[in-house]
Amino acid sequence: MLPKILISRAIFPEIIARLGQHFDVTSNQDDVLWTPSQLSEQLQGMSGVFTTGGERIDAALLAACPVLKICANMAVGYNNFDLDAMTAAGVLGTNAPDVLTETTADFGFALLMATARRVAESEHFLRAGLWTRWRYDMFTGSDIHGATLGILGMGRIGQAIARRGAHGFGMKVIYHNRSRLDDATEAQCGARYVGKAELLKTADHLVLVLPYSASSHHAIGATELAQMKPRATLVNIARGGIVDDAALAAALRNKTIAAAGLDVFEGEPKVHPDLLTVPNVVLTPHIGSATVPTRLAMANLAADNLIGYLLHDKPLTPLNPAVLSAR
Ligand code: DGY
Repeated sequence: MLPKILISRAIFPEIIARLGQHFDVTSNQDDVLWTPSQLSEQLQGMSGVFTTGGERIDAALLAACPVLKICANMAVGYNNFDLDAMTAAGVLGTNAPDVLTETTADFGFALLMATARRVAESEHFLRAGLWTRWRYDMFTGSDIHGATLGILGMGRIGQAIARRGAHGFGMKVIYHNRSRLDDATEAQCGARYVGKAELLKTADHLVLVLPYSASSHHAIGATELAQMKPRATLVNIARGGIVDDAALAAALRNKTIAAAGLDVFEGEPKVHPDLLTVPNVVLTPHIGSATVPTRLAMANLAADNLIGYLLHDKPLTPLNPAVLSAR
């Protein structure tokens, strides 16, 4: 009998077909957004689950699913996993790093440029039929080239953004991270380590690329926004909850900073209503990694993890390898 797995959200048909060669697959191609208790019901008897990043895997769910062995996230972020509870329950978590790094860095730059050069705001103006003449000060924004790019969080995606800024746009790149990069990596990224206060004070454009955790919750709130330059822009491609969205909306309205670009939100897919009414913010629906090749690569990596662990005991990108050594 083939091991049973659940694919908890709609996914590429070829991924279902691929997993179907190895497992008895139940999939959710209607993309029903299950409640935690519905997810738990669907997981009865399943050895593995393919998750997409929004499904909460916690102690209560794990207690109700005693035969579950692996949760494979099709996302590099894994704040939907309670990793301690998973380790305690002997359930492996895996994520999908690396395959989305360059695509997500491209998007970080797209959002940064749209924000600094007011692309969305000016397009809305044009579509509304308000463009009647050229004016010297119409939608003037700020430069990217030669500006100081600040990066908060310097993992793989932060480094890919730094390389684009330093080597593509001639930016001065500064970063802050829990740990400093080694000299060779700093040189490759063209980036200089600074403290958080200096980062906030000095950056013309600040991009957030740090993982979400209790310690990064509201890492950017009213206090931090007040330390930024009035002409600065802020881009969040990391996770909702890292920015205090209410404080940011107020800062945008008061011109504490010039503009923001947000791909992720507290409580998404809900968006703080105040953000919807300020003009100087570009809003996108969590599409940082959304290109067809990248999403396919992420899905294949999640599938590789399910196949690797359940059939060969060799997951590719385990998050809690303690589970492997504990058996
Ligand atoms: C990730 O991989 O974490 C992206 O945010 C997509 O969910």
